[in-house]
Amino acid sequence: MDSLERYLPKWPETSLQMGLTAAGAAIVSFLLLRGLFKQRKQLKGKVVVITGASSGIGEALATEFVQKGCKVILAARSIEKLKQLKEKLVSSYKIAEDSIACFFLDLEDHDAIEEACSSLLALYGKVDILVNNAGISGGDRVEKCHLQTYKKIMDINYFGQVALTKGMHYYDSLLQFTF
Ligand SMILES: NC(=O)c1ccc[n+]([C@@H]2O[C@H](COP(=O)([O-])OP(=O)(O)OC[C@H]3O[C@@H](n4cnc5c(N)ncnc54)[C@H](OP(=O)(O)O)[C@@H]3O)[C@@H](O)[C@H]2O)c1
Repeated sequence: MDSLERYLPKWPETSLQMGLTAAGAAIVSFLLLRGLFKQRKQLKGKVVVITGASSGIGEALATEFVQKGCKVILAARSIEKLKQLKEKLVSSYKIAEDSIACFFLDLEDHDAIEEACSSLLALYGKVDILVNNAGISGGDRVEKCHLQTYKKIMDINYFGQVALTKGMHYYDSLLQFTF
């Protein structure tokens, strides 16, 4: 029992100890808040593309980036869902309508991705952050899932994201070169 007590936190017993504990807590809170403000400042005004923004994790990420003051491009196939999300974000966070854009993107259509990249970059003149979030899953047990489904998963979750990332880098370097 004695040895266990050595590892338990000791509560302050004197006013000096209490003062030091309060000062410590204040310093930690200050550092945490400073970190949050710094992060918010670093992200403010950045242009973020989020694929698969029409639901789930993509939608949640869009909400976070909007709160951090980013310009957000919501990308997916369900354009109506994207428009609804945009409306919700604009009214919830009282932000300018033109700080969110909706963009139709089908990651399975690899031939269209290069043109999509140039259109994405044209929306705000640059893209600072690309979040490759869109994807599908087999939706069944491995033994029941058809090989064709796995091919589709690779086409969207892997090759689609590779094509998008590659396209962005190509145009991005072109833009840097041009300006
Ligand atoms: N949630 C989890 O527990 C979990 C676990 C492991 C991995 N993940 C991965 O994390 C990512 C997000 O998961 P989630 O749960 O948020 O999934 P989700 O709710 O099903 O959302 C998937 C998103 O991907 C988009 N998408 C699907 N096919 C697309 C295509 N061909 N082109 C462009 N966009 C497409 C969908 O939009 P449209 O249908 O409108 O195009 C949707 O917005 C996925 O890649 C998923 O595989 C999730």
